[in-house]
Amino acid sequence: MSDLIINNLTKSYRVNNDPYPVLKGISCTTDCSAITVILGKSGCGKTTLLRLISGLEEPDAGTIKYPANINIGMMFQEARLMPWLTCEKNITFGLPPNYDKEKIRALLTTVGLTNFAHAYPGELSGGMQQRTALARTLARDSNLILMDEPFAALDYFTRQIMQKEVLKIKAASHTGIIFVTHNIDEALLLADRILILKDGNITSDITIACQGQRDILTARFIDLKRQILAALQIK
Ligand SMILES: Nc1ncnc2c1ncn2[C@@H]1O[C@H](COP(=O)(O)OP(=O)(O)O)[C@@H](O)[C@H]1O
Ligand SMILES: [Mg+2]
Repeated sequence: MSDLIINNLTKSYRVNNDPYPVLKGISCTTDCSAITVILGKSGCGKTTLLRLISGLEEPDAGTIKYPANINIGMMFQEARLMPWLTCEKNITFGLPPNYDKEKIRALLTTVGLTNFAHAYPGELSGGMQQRTALARTLARDSNLILMDEPFAALDYFTRQIMQKEVLKIKAASHTGIIFVTHNIDEALLLADRILILKDGNITSDITIACQGQRDILTARFIDLKRQILAALQIK
């Protein structure tokens, strides 16, 4: 797949009747087969940017040019499952009746939920619910997935498992991902490229070329973390 081209994207909200600028002319080109992480502090406009890319919201000005045959999927911080449907039925909800049952079985295996296919969301842990949400997104053959802090509510260990899951899926399917987080370690672990969003603009653009497993406790990644902390001006 080719690039997603964002040009001079501007978005303001109205707060107390005054315009409140959130995105102030963002331009960037992202490779839709890579993992691009948008990293920034809470309130900097990450969700706004994702909502604009997904088409859930309109920009005030600027354009987004999508690659041909783009099929965008979304994953949020909460799993947003339907509590009255089983794990499997949540995954297949809305698919055409002749959906590929073998593919759904394979997806359940990928996310480690084969034994819980018939369990209800209330019987699943937070991590399992998020894995269901991930399978639901993947079942739709999306070739670009927008993830808005999808693991922020999970404990450290579950988060690690889910991050590895994302890397495995990426390696197996070449699905592009735009991943929003405020967590620097998560960004370092997942990203092919990190875009830092600050004061309404992309202020840093860091490409991480790395084959195979990453160890973010090595000198190279600790240096990168220092660089990012400086870019975000966190002492
Ligand atoms: N619908 C809205 N109306 C008014 N202000 C909003 C709205 N949505 C977001 N904002 C404000 O825009 C800023 C950016 O929000 P958001 O994109 O959610 O940030 P992030 O996802 O980085 O935490 C915040 O200050 C937030 O309060
Ligand atoms: Mg947000």
